[in-house]
Amino acid sequence: MYPYKVFLDMGLYDICLALGVLVVFFLADRLAIQKGFSVAMQKTVLISGWLGVMLGYGFAVLFQAFYNFLDGAAFEIVANTGATFYGGLIGGAGTFIAAWFIGGKILCKNDEPKKRFFDIAEIAAVCIPLAHAFGRLGCFFSGCCHGAPTSEWYGVRMYTEAGWQTVVPVQLYEAIFLFALAAAIGALFKSKKHGEMPLLSLYLIVYGVWRFFIEFARADDRGATVVSALSPSQLVAIILIAVGIGYVFIVKYIKNKWKEKNMQAIETFKSIFGADAEYLYTAAGRINVIGEHVDYCGGKVFPAALNLRCNVYARKTGGKQIRIALKGIDGIIVLETDKLDSYKQLKLGNYQAGVAYYLQQEGVEIVGCDLYYECTVPFGSGLSSSAAIEVATAVTLCELAGVEYDKVKLALISQRAENKYAGVNCGIMDQFASAMGKKDHAVLLDCSTLAYEYVPLQLGDYCLVVANCNKPHNLVESKYNERRQEVETALNLLKTKLDVSCLAEVTPQQFEEHKHLLPDLIATRAKHVVMECDRVRLAVDALKAGDLEKLGALLNESHYSLRDLYEVTGKELDTLSALARSQPDCLGSRMIGAGFGGCTISIVKKTGVEEFIKRVGEAYCQEIGYQASFYETSIEDGITVTKL
Ligand code: GLA
Repeated sequence: MYPYKVFLDMGLYDICLALGVLVVFFLADRLAIQKGFSVAMQKTVLISGWLGVMLGYGFAVLFQAFYNFLDGAAFEIVANTGATFYGGLIGGAGTFIAAWFIGGKILCKNDEPKKRFFDIAEIAAVCIPLAHAFGRLGCFFSGCCHGAPTSEWYGVRMYTEAGWQTVVPVQLYEAIFLFALAAAIGALFKSKKHGEMPLLSLYLIVYGVWRFFIEFARADDRGATVVSALSPSQLVAIILIAVGIGYVFIVKYIKNKWKEKNMQAIETFKSIFGADAEYLYTAAGRINVIGEHVDYCGGKVFPAALNLRCNVYARKTGGKQIRIALKGIDGIIVLETDKLDSYKQLKLGNYQAGVAYYLQQEGVEIVGCDLYYECTVPFGSGLSSSAAIEVATAVTLCELAGVEYDKVKLALISQRAENKYAGVNCGIMDQFASAMGKKDHAVLLDCSTLAYEYVPLQLGDYCLVVANCNKPHNLVESKYNERRQEVETALNLLKTKLDVSCLAEVTPQQFEEHKHLLPDLIATRAKHVVMECDRVRLAVDALKAGDLEKLGALLNESHYSLRDLYEVTGKELDTLSALARSQPDCLGSRMIGAGFGGCTISIVKKTGVEEFIKRVGEAYCQEIGYQASFYETSIEDGITVTKL
């Protein structure tokens, strides 16, 4: 029992505590982001996670006290270990406050998953010794209080194999040492003087070395005869040191890879603005599984955020100018923050100006900044590059202003900018997906209430292939606004007989009974909306049930309806989706977005994707006269925030 106890006492705590903190912090953090929580909510989740770890720590110590009790140790030692429980709780309260400030401020500013993990580890490197120090202090005081009569006031007696011994006040030494270590690491954390050296490594190595040597003193107290032989605790100390050193290399490797990915943009930023970018904010382009041209009729849509995104590298400058540079375009666009309503006519930069203007109207103080935009969502592709630019701008300006924001609100402000500033009367789908998308999920969004549900986009052996018909797409805006008017007319006419507030509320049966109220063309348009709303419901059920054939069939029907009733497809999109549908490995295909050009999505068997792209690509080129593009896509989170 003895070595086991020592092991449990002297090293396992640290490892378990460190791992526990990391795992819980990380999971709580991911959960908060995935649920699309606001920053305030993310903080709460993080703090709860932290408190959970501290309680766990406390209970681990209680558990040990229980073991001691079973082992027949006297009240004194049971109380001693039990007091660590309170120490743990006090430590929990202390670190609760530390985590509130440090965790909330830093973690919520960093969404790049791996980098986030490193930041969590850095915060843990400050918090663990702090919590641990309180725990040790608890042990020491309990030893004193429970009548450990010793010759020295700070002495603590311990039950060892050699009987009761007055031991070196290891607990006190350790508490002091850990407080000092926490303070030193905290100071380094603040001043960033540790350079590339991860603080977690520093903590593990320094603590490991301390632990290794302190064991000599303890070995003596235990009456160990061979001081030179390694005790279990010393072995643990060596493991701590080794993990600490290993972690240096892991962090270095991953950070280098990450930097390589962003290096070009970071360097471009510096060459344009003469200073380093501080943050990277991104928002996603989107696909829509089903539910097309129904968002502005209050229907449900089913979009998902893509890996194709708008990236904004940013630096706060203060002052009254937003300076914008765009990848691939020479020159800088300057927006004066006190004249934001005067940029509607800008060809480039008007989305940014619109978002800044409406944020300002909402009371957000727009601060001067340098922004470099790199948009990987192809323009005019129907994958919502404009929403990605708007939402990325909104998150950038809020973050730089240091205000807390709600992602749904950002989506609504972005939509307002597109409607009123850029003059496109779009619905809420694109901006909502861009802000609220979640990795590997589609968002089932009710556009009349903004209630939403995340549904896993799991297609098993199949995947979604996104293809761009590359039709130069103009006229989209006028045609789009025309459709909106047509369905508004339909709604107004139906309202004379039906008690509905939007077209999406009309059931297929009600529609059949009342369509005579509508002129032919208007009835045709309205029929698409009513039936498409019904298909969304069926498609979500099919996906949840894993019935991909059904889902594919519904995608096809959606396309036919957009082609024949809503008339927003055109030869290119019809050809591209028909070619896709004719492939053996394809379950269904349809156009997405506003139409008149842009993209299709197709459900294709994973093993057949290459062949699919080759065949559809060749046939399309033959028929239309120019190439289609196929994108490698994945479903990702909507907004991300990364500290560089
Ligand atoms: C565009 C609009 C969206 C939506 C789709 C069609 O992408 O921005 O609001 O109406 O078209 O479903």
